[in-house]
Amino acid sequence: MILIDAISEPEKALASAAAKLEVGGLVALPTETVYGLAADATNGEAVARIFAAKGRPQFNPLICHVSDLEMAKRCGEFSPMAEKLAEKFWPGPLTIVVPLKANCSIHPLVSAGLETIALRCPRGIVGQIADKLQRPIAAPSANTSGTISPTAAQHVVDDLGAKVDLIIDGAACSVGLESTIVKPLNNTLLLLRSGSITAEELAEFSGRPVERPQSDAAIEAPGMMVSHYAPKTPMRLNAQRVEQDEALLAFGPGPIENAGAARLQLNLSPNGDLIEAASNLYDYMKQLDKEGACTIAVQPIPQTGLGEAINDRLSRAAAPKDEDHE
Ligand code: TXA
Ligand code: MG
Repeated sequence: MILIDAISEPEKALASAAAKLEVGGLVALPTETVYGLAADATNGEAVARIFAAKGRPQFNPLICHVSDLEMAKRCGEFSPMAEKLAEKFWPGPLTIVVPLKANCSIHPLVSAGLETIALRCPRGIVGQIADKLQRPIAAPSANTSGTISPTAAQHVVDDLGAKVDLIIDGAACSVGLESTIVKPLNNTLLLLRSGSITAEELAEFSGRPVERPQSDAAIEAPGMMVSHYAPKTPMRLNAQRVEQDEALLAFGPGPIENAGAARLQLNLSPNGDLIEAASNLYDYMKQLDKEGACTIAVQPIPQTGLGEAINDRLSRAAAPKDEDHE
């Protein structure tokens, strides 16, 4: 792990961070809220490495950081209200959830397969790096899952250390609290996470009421991506054999009985690499879902490392569909 001080060496920090991200590396970066664990949002394996480094047991959707509104508009569909909010509060600690733009280059692991994307243009070096790369940057807080978010480079060194390729020290974060997350709806704003830009401020500026999600509300909470993301074809997990008319989601080098019966088979990682498997998961589920198979049979995935998140995702996709959340 390398540490670069962005205050004394801003050019070096910018160039090194961009170079590392370009080749799929993980870089801890300062923002005005908390330090982020960044990867190129268009590179599935790099994004999968974020989850592995954080030890996240689930693929929660990640915030995508952009250089400006123009880049944001290449990733998401901005309603007039979403645009108004971006113009007012960017760069700054506001994340705006908008519909994902069709055919945009963001890897589906970033939005956990949701049809929406959380976008934010932070102050400081992250926007400059996104501009240099001309690509959005996915970054959750740079801490082990379940622990407190880092507000100084030293926190990241102590917590993630060698799991990160590069840490950019930009001094302490001025806000110190994760960004406010807002989702503009037809006539209201949905406040998904409170932060330093307050509900009152948003209501006053937008002239619209600000609502909080119901505790059992669908979609908004990461856990609810489930029903949203389940394929139409039923899934059969831990399959030891392929049955007639099934599609096969394979994993690893091991053969499976009756593989020839599969309408289509895709292997998440022929070498059994969980990072590669995670980056292929959503895309392969989508492809297999189009086959018109009776079932998608899934070979067992080990429950170690990223396997826990992959299995979490698979078991949600295989769960009976909840009609309220369709
Ligand atoms: O201040 C911040 O926002 C920091 C810095 C690094 O930018 N980032 C951060 O990211 O806090 P993270 O991954 O720890 O939190 C992302 C939050 C999660 O609660 C997730 O559920 C929500 O954003 N989120 C992401 N995409 C979403 C979407 N499409 N719809 C609803 N919520 C979403
Ligand atoms: Mg976090």
